[in-house]
Amino acid sequence: MKSAPDDTRKSLRRLAERIRARRTVNLFLKQPVSRKLILDAIEVARWAPNHHVTEPWHFYLLGKETIAKSVELTRQIVTERKGQKKGDFKAEAAAERPGWLVVSCVRSTDDLKQQEDYASCCCAIQNLMLYLSEAGLASKWSTGAITRDQRFFDLLGIDSDKAFIAGLIFYGYPKITPQQKRREVSAITSELP
Ligand SMILES: Cc1cc2nc3c(=O)[nH]c(=O)nc-3n(C[C@H](O)[C@H](O)[C@H](O)COP(=O)(O)O)c2cc1C
Repeated sequence: MKSAPDDTRKSLRRLAERIRARRTVNLFLKQPVSRKLILDAIEVARWAPNHHVTEPWHFYLLGKETIAKSVELTRQIVTERKGQKKGDFKAEAAAERPGWLVVSCVRSTDDLKQQEDYASCCCAIQNLMLYLSEAGLASKWSTGAITRDQRFFDLLGIDSDKAFIAGLIFYGYPKITPQQKRREVSAITSELP
């Protein structure tokens, strides 16, 4: 069998390395991120596989004012659940995150459609995070308590009867990139005759 040409092998290696190298990052530099870059990432995100092409996602790009309100809401939510000290700590950490993007998914009363739509939103988020990673940025996909809090929906203008939040994506230039491990392919693969 003919092997792939050199440039194809190189681009495959590059693609694989990008997927492996993307990491969830907690600590970001203060350096701002261009709005154009995020809009480009959203443009790529929407090419996710999507059964029946329902395009169930919506992207909310938070500006300074909304981020500040979200930080205060984080303080409030965590304080209500875990006390003032923890609330202040979480709010401080949240305030350090330069970019905030929320991805919502359309609600469905049909279980299968809901599952498939959510799966597509997750694929779209991965597309977005890989694009940012290739651009030298990092991200963190969060499904923390704020993503299920009605006050956050109200702040963003999302009708919680019609959509839910698939992810709150923090993004920015990474300060510290953690390491990760995965199990061996042989441990997660069964080859059938
Ligand atoms: C649906 C989903 C929800 C997540 N929610 C959180 C979260 O709330 N808090 C958090 O610290 N990480 C969250 N993560 C990130 C995972 O913890 C992270 O992907 C995992 O530790 C593996 O690290 P990696 O992304 O660097 O490979 C979430 C990831 C996914 C896919």
